[in-house]
Amino acid sequence: EPRPGAGARPPRAELHLHLEGTLEPELAFALAERNGVALPFADVAALRAAYDFGDLQSFLDLYYANMAVLRTADDFAELTRAYLRRAAAAGVRHAEIMFDPQAHLLRGVPLATVVDGITSVLVTSERDFGVSTLLIAAFLRDRPAGEALSVLDALLATGAPIAGVGLDSAEVGSAAPFGPVFARAAAAGLRRTAHAGEEGPPANVVEVLDVLGAERVDHGVRAMEDPALVARLARDRVPLTVCPLSNVRLQAVPSLAEHPLPRMVEAGLHVSVHSDDPAYFGGYVDDVDDALTATFGMGARERAALAAASFTGSFLPADRVREHL
Ligand code: HPA
Ligand code: ZN
Repeated sequence: EPRPGAGARPPRAELHLHLEGTLEPELAFALAERNGVALPFADVAALRAAYDFGDLQSFLDLYYANMAVLRTADDFAELTRAYLRRAAAAGVRHAEIMFDPQAHLLRGVPLATVVDGITSVLVTSERDFGVSTLLIAAFLRDRPAGEALSVLDALLATGAPIAGVGLDSAEVGSAAPFGPVFARAAAAGLRRTAHAGEEGPPANVVEVLDVLGAERVDHGVRAMEDPALVARLARDRVPLTVCPLSNVRLQAVPSLAEHPLPRMVEAGLHVSVHSDDPAYFGGYVDDVDDALTATFGMGARERAALAAASFTGSFLPADRVREHL
């Protein structure tokens, strides 16, 4: 059904989205049944009730556990279709979709199964859903960098249609060991983004810029604690993909009203807003917009500016970006 204010929603790009984080409880149970996998929850309501997170790790534990239901290429295709259908309804016209190849390899699902399932849907996403798409392979920061390197090599060797690489999972330790992974990705012509400054300090943001050559930063909210870094990010127009509902749910910020987004905009940062793991964090980008409007009284001009930033922060070529502005 039409959502309130849907007509006024500007077209936008989703730049911070983990495909596995779009697994809604209903689909999780349907796939569990189909694959003969047992979920440790009685029903959809019990699973939803577990979405009460104290921090990033408590979310990641459930996020990785629920992936057990994703076994076949068809499962990944169904997940991708469900996301694109919902994203189109939210006003998304372009989506840069991250997935976690290592999380599936580690539980015995071959890379080709994952990539083939997802890309079978992405190849016709524009025709089928009105959403252009790019695929980003995200590496797990809390796993060895050597593992990431071999997965990248496998992706490159098989000609997997990925546009870029990312870095996600627990924001622990230094990102420096991933320097060679990102360097190889750059040499192969891939775009580079990395999570930083979500739970970790501003120095983590500096590190992904300087050591990984990240062109974009996922989250970056804690950059606000370092004025010199804020000045640098503003000067260099580094896109930050901010996920306000995620930050509240993972208690990176105490409440939406206290979220630094308005101060980030005020500081001249290149920010756009996204959903991260919409099945887990209370909504897709239209829900994010509604929450921001309700909390900050965001007007049409501010919404339009954030929507424009979602395209200018994308990995689309300049001429494709212009078509959306
Ligand atoms: N943060 C870090 N890693 C992730 C997230 C997140 O919000 N979602 C999926 N992987
Ligand atoms: Zn994320």
